[in-house]
Amino acid sequence: MSSTPLTELISLKGRKALVTGAASGIGSSVSERFAEAGASLVLVDINESSLTSVASAIRDRYGVEVEAKKVDMSKKREIDELWSGLKERAPDIMVNNAGIYEFRDFLEVDEDFLERTLNVNLKSVFYMCQHMVRTRGDRGGVIVNVSSIEAVIHLVKGLTHYGVSKIGLVALTRALAREYGGKGFRVNAVMPGGIHTPGTDKVRNEALKRLQLGFFITGVNFISRIPLKRLGEPDEVARVILFLASDLSSYVNGSVLVVDGGYLTD
Ligand SMILES: NC(=O)c1ccc[n+]([C@@H]2O[C@H](COP(=O)([O-])OP(=O)(O)OC[C@H]3O[C@@H](n4cnc5c(N)ncnc54)[C@H](O)[C@@H]3O)[C@@H](O)[C@H]2O)c1
Repeated sequence: MSSTPLTELISLKGRKALVTGAASGIGSSVSERFAEAGASLVLVDINESSLTSVASAIRDRYGVEVEAKKVDMSKKREIDELWSGLKERAPDIMVNNAGIYEFRDFLEVDEDFLERTLNVNLKSVFYMCQHMVRTRGDRGGVIVNVSSIEAVIHLVKGLTHYGVSKIGLVALTRALAREYGGKGFRVNAVMPGGIHTPGTDKVRNEALKRLQLGFFITGVNFISRIPLKRLGEPDEVARVILFLASDLSSYVNGSVLVVDGGYLTD
């Protein structure tokens, strides 16, 4: 018979959680669910105005402590500065969610573009994990990395660079889970499929503007190939991340949870 009540297992009361890319989409939904579960928050994003409004809406609604930090995750120096400011109380939970997915044909990806994608989507997470492991030491902690099904299946032409950055997160997640599990770290990832967010809206409009109708058409085909016949909502990913961040998943380590309505079964 289990003894810990469910409400206690899902609660994040007394824990501090850092979420990157918190100003929009999946990141803002995660922040909201974490606040509802009682966590105090450090919200990070490059978009200061959206971040400030997400932070104050969460503060008003849930009454938890929320710090908002403007950081460009593509810059290691800014990541280092973020962590020097966190020294007093390092987060117990970290969700590496900030990411970019601009379309570009494989042969048109130049050095700057590839650098930017890898910096934001992969290298920043590598550095964030180094800081977390160093700062928390033997106290351990929980890390959730946001990958994508694009890491394991080529969904859309023009996102090769993105898939490459996201598969790196799987390697990082599994390596850290193995290496630091003994110090009390649990490191997991989620692999969302098509989720309807401001980010995906923007990409679709841009793609149409550049007459890359492929995405739109593929988008229609894409939905018909999802067993649940619809895109996911950001909160449907956020709830899985809450599971991974909370004690509900106390024996889950090194896992990659697919949240795609069943697309990968195809
Ligand atoms: N939406 C999907 O269909 C989908 C599918 C699979 C994976 N993902 C991943 O989920 C994550 C969130 O995606 P979303 O759709 O919610 O995106 P979104 O564009 O709606 O939100 C991303 C947030 O990250 C922030 N960000 C971007 N670059 C940054 C930088 N350099 N420094 C700090 N913050 C930065 C943006 O300002 C934005 O607030 C991304 O990592 C994305 O790759 C999304």
